[in-house]
Amino acid sequence: MKRVLIVDDHENNIYYLRSLMEGHGWEVITARHGAEALVLARQKFPDLLISDLLMPVMDGYTLLRHWKADERLNKVPFIVYTATYTEAEDERLALSLGADAFILKPTEPDDFLLRIEDVQKRATQTPPSLPKTIIGTEAATAHLYNETLIRKLEEKMLQLEESNKILKRDQTELRMLERAIKAASQGIVITDPNRSDNPIVYVSPGFERLTGYSSNEVIGRNCRFLQGRDTSPESTAVIRKALQGANTCDIEILNYCKDGRPFWNHLNISPVLDSAGRLTHFIGVQTDVTQQRNLENQLRQSQKMRAIGTLAGGVAHDFNNLLAIIGLHVENILLQIPADSPFKKGLESILKAQDRGAGLTRQLLAFSRKQGIELKPVDIDKTIMGLIEMLSRMVGEDIELEAFYGEGSKVILGDLHQLEQLVTNLVINARDAIQMSGRITIKTSLVDGGNSHPVESERTKPNNFVKLSVIDTGIGMDAETVSRIFEPFFTTKESGKGTGLGLSTVDGLVRQFNGRVEVKSELGKGSTFDIFLPISLEMYAKPTIRNSEGKKIVTGQTVLVVEDQQELRSILARTLRDAGYMVIEAQNGETALETYTNYGSPIHMVITDIVMPKMGGREFSERLLEINPDVIVLFLSGYTEDALLRYGISGSKNHRFIDKPFTVSTLLAKVRELLQ
Ligand SMILES: Cc1cc2nc3c(=O)[nH]c(=O)nc-3n(C[C@H](O)[C@H](O)[C@H](O)COP(=O)(O)O)c2cc1C
Repeated sequence: MKRVLIVDDHENNIYYLRSLMEGHGWEVITARHGAEALVLARQKFPDLLISDLLMPVMDGYTLLRHWKADERLNKVPFIVYTATYTEAEDERLALSLGADAFILKPTEPDDFLLRIEDVQKRATQTPPSLPKTIIGTEAATAHLYNETLIRKLEEKMLQLEESNKILKRDQTELRMLERAIKAASQGIVITDPNRSDNPIVYVSPGFERLTGYSSNEVIGRNCRFLQGRDTSPESTAVIRKALQGANTCDIEILNYCKDGRPFWNHLNISPVLDSAGRLTHFIGVQTDVTQQRNLENQLRQSQKMRAIGTLAGGVAHDFNNLLAIIGLHVENILLQIPADSPFKKGLESILKAQDRGAGLTRQLLAFSRKQGIELKPVDIDKTIMGLIEMLSRMVGEDIELEAFYGEGSKVILGDLHQLEQLVTNLVINARDAIQMSGRITIKTSLVDGGNSHPVESERTKPNNFVKLSVIDTGIGMDAETVSRIFEPFFTTKESGKGTGLGLSTVDGLVRQFNGRVEVKSELGKGSTFDIFLPISLEMYAKPTIRNSEGKKIVTGQTVLVVEDQQELRSILARTLRDAGYMVIEAQNGETALETYTNYGSPIHMVITDIVMPKMGGREFSERLLEINPDVIVLFLSGYTEDALLRYGISGSKNHRFIDKPFTVSTLLAKVRELLQ
């Protein structure tokens, strides 16, 4: 078997030639450069040599010179096979140094084999080719060799300079990318799906800031360590499926920081492919969207509450009218029957039930912010101190109730009874959350509410809010329950134990006092309700209306009663007539205005509903003021749109309100007070 020595510094070239030659019956030996080739050749004496030209240690030209100078080797044909030295001068030099063939890479295998055959044939027929002098002298050959080398060096230099430029550009780009990635607030994670369990191979500084984990702590781990107790398995399944198909994935998933703090991670994962389209990595971009999600939840919640509030307010309004009719009729009957009448007890029971019904509608109205209350300065600490004994009795012996009053005067604008109701509801709620024994803590303090104070001049003042906290050691709530507790009729208590109105009333009252509620709770870890209420200002304070006992008297004064609800209008008129007043009736503002203008004798007072078709109480009272600035008006409230409406129309000193449903005595007392 003939032996060929292949000399080339590139593995791929050797591999190609070896396959070709072995496939055609040659034994192949190889060397990486000229020096190695000479040593090998002198040991193994090949029948043919195929050599590259550009090689480290000793190039092909030098090898050729040594080859042809060695008597034992110079008969062995020397084939130059080159991709770098491709010009005519290069070939001329090689042939002048004794090369038997000069073949350019790449050459088709068949052509290549033909050339080899040709060289072999010539070698048997003619003496070996020996170095010839080109222009006649050894010096000229050396000159040609040097020139060829220098030319090649220059080409190489140019190539290197070009590569250097590209490298520098790449480096600048890399540095820019590194700075940009460092600055990005998002976290960036790169994983290697070709290794077991898709481990992290890179995390950006943004990832470290977001999660609290350092790069060293996470490299080599799968990202799932960010998940925790409340992470939804559905979300992880979505990611898993996307990764299995090497697809992109965009999802919001609940993750946990190193310190255990949960955060909502908007995660975007994309596959990274190489130039051949093979999957090499995954890149994940993480954005903390917790705050955004909270705001969205709050908005959704407040929209829901507003809708429920409107509904509850509407129902309560109509219900109040019915209660007023029942109450006034029953009171009238009671006034007329003898004290020992067998009907008396039953009628009194009806009145009691009516009163309880009125209490319920008051709660609904408080929730829907439609209860007409007059905000007055109330001291929070004093209110709690006045309640604490009653509350202690209410929570029972197994529950410890304690109160801590922070420094400073905590006067807010509210309503004493409603504030008491608010604290009581919170404490009842806390009590019901404690199963056997536990502790309820009430705390008050002055805090900075930022610029959320409802009065502009007060916004920037420090400590402009009172914080009232009710903390219990009860069973706590999960996030789903927390998000629903302020809805009316939502209750976690067993049937018959709670109306589901307690906390919705709290929410309604707090909003009525221009405050807000925050709830912190976790299952098994108790709950904290923080109520933030803006501190009171003198300018808010309005004079209090005092009631006096109504008495049946003959007056002869004329009262115009304006109410769209016919039954309520009649019973009002009847009550007033019974009390000695002259009463004219009208069913809305428009007809009332007409009556008022055209009535021949003086009308001493107008009693009007606020919400009526055609012309409501507000417009009606404004038009009345234009006709008579001293007109006395009593508004039947219970569905005031908001506190502003009240203050808006109570600009006149002769305007008053009475809350529906009202008793005969309060109505008559108000009327008398105003007419005096
Ligand atoms: C690039 C990349 C980034 C990821 N980042 C997170 C992440 O921030 N939070 C997370 O919960 N899961 C992340 N994952 C998903 C988990 O690593 C894992 O694929 C997922 O939990 C589903 O697989 P499993 O069911 O085997 O846990 C990431 C995955 C990849 C490929």
